[in-house]
Amino acid sequence: MSLSDKRILLVVAGGIAAYKSLELVRRLRERGAYVRCVLTNSGAEFVTPLALSALSGDKVYSELFSLTDEAEMGHIQLSREADLLVIAPATADLLARMAGGQANDLATTVLLATDKPVLAAPAMNVRMWLHPATQANLAILKERGVVLLGPEDGDMACGEFGPGRMSEPMEILAAVERHFANGGVLAGRRALVTSGPTLEAIDPVRFLSNHSSGRQGHAIAAALAAAGAQTTLVSGPVSLDDPPGVEVQRVNSADEMLAACQAALPVDVAVCAAAVADWRPRHSLAGKIKKGDGHAPAIKLVENPDILATLAAAGPARPTLVIGFAAETENVIEQASAKRLKKGCDWILANDVAPGTGTFGGAENLVHVIDAQGAESWPRMSKAAVAQKLSSRIAEALGAG
Ligand code: CTP
Repeated sequence: MSLSDKRILLVVAGGIAAYKSLELVRRLRERGAYVRCVLTNSGAEFVTPLALSALSGDKVYSELFSLTDEAEMGHIQLSREADLLVIAPATADLLARMAGGQANDLATTVLLATDKPVLAAPAMNVRMWLHPATQANLAILKERGVVLLGPEDGDMACGEFGPGRMSEPMEILAAVERHFANGGVLAGRRALVTSGPTLEAIDPVRFLSNHSSGRQGHAIAAALAAAGAQTTLVSGPVSLDDPPGVEVQRVNSADEMLAACQAALPVDVAVCAAAVADWRPRHSLAGKIKKGDGHAPAIKLVENPDILATLAAAGPARPTLVIGFAAETENVIEQASAKRLKKGCDWILANDVAPGTGTFGGAENLVHVIDAQGAESWPRMSKAAVAQKLSSRIAEALGAG
């Protein structure tokens, strides 16, 4: 497969396996990829900047605080202009610093600043690999979407035997090719996400709505699209940017939201994260209601269609996986489990929106994922991390990747 025009940023950390990264650069370039290298200080103990630079045909970046590096190529740009970041070898220390969100050298700063997929090929001593600290760091990184390749079992340079050898350059190359061939674990799948509030008109200037920010729904659409799904986001009015690579349908009312969702079918997965107004005024008046004789008008409400329940009961057009949210303030898991059954969806993400939790409209979320098997409680995390974790769970359930 040709990798022509693909831009790879290769991070080379300090392990004996770094010599294999020279071969990797050659193989990537043979296939037409542009390769730029970031070499850590310890990496430079194993391979020289000159060797990497000669093979990549480009300058090698090492220093976070180098004036010339920053003038030519800022570290943010360095990470953003790549299509894929590859870490080979990924040492125990580098993985730990990534898991901890550190940015204390150029490599970790680039890895923290990137919004691009990251593929890591770990290499370390077998005991370091098996250590619970390393395993915990790997679990965190996996959860955040880092793709891990290897390590392999075998004789190690330190004389021990077991898992810890970095995958061979050709294996890493194949993983890079797979990445671009697949375009992500959800490539070929279709996803539908609802987000934001709905807005139900009373008259041309007044409406009923709620405080939903749309942050969680938008983050889910972004994560599904980043995993390769062809994603439609049906959103009520929000003040967020459109997520990259997502087809956005803007609507106001619940009726419009339902129609846009039905038009997006068939899909493999539907995630209903919108805070749909439960009711709408029976009549939306064409003219503005006047104060008149001082009596407040009575607004008769009718129930809105339940979009989640409608999608879950869509017969042959039903998405394979229908996922809802349940905003609850008490007996969260119990109420949400009952809601899952009532609405006929496969999973429900229960979030605690009791006053003081800061969930509604906030940047973080505390969710319990409820399916037919029971409830799984996720730690409090950013809405982007919830989206990432949900996307991985969806890919697994759809047998993707
Ligand atoms: N939902 C929907 N259409 C509606 C109402 C809700 O699609 N008309 C979806 C939401 O997007 C969410 C789930 O249903 O995924 C749960 O919404 P929630 O407001 O928590 O539940 P309600 O059914 O409104 O129940 P209640 O307000 O009584 O808790």
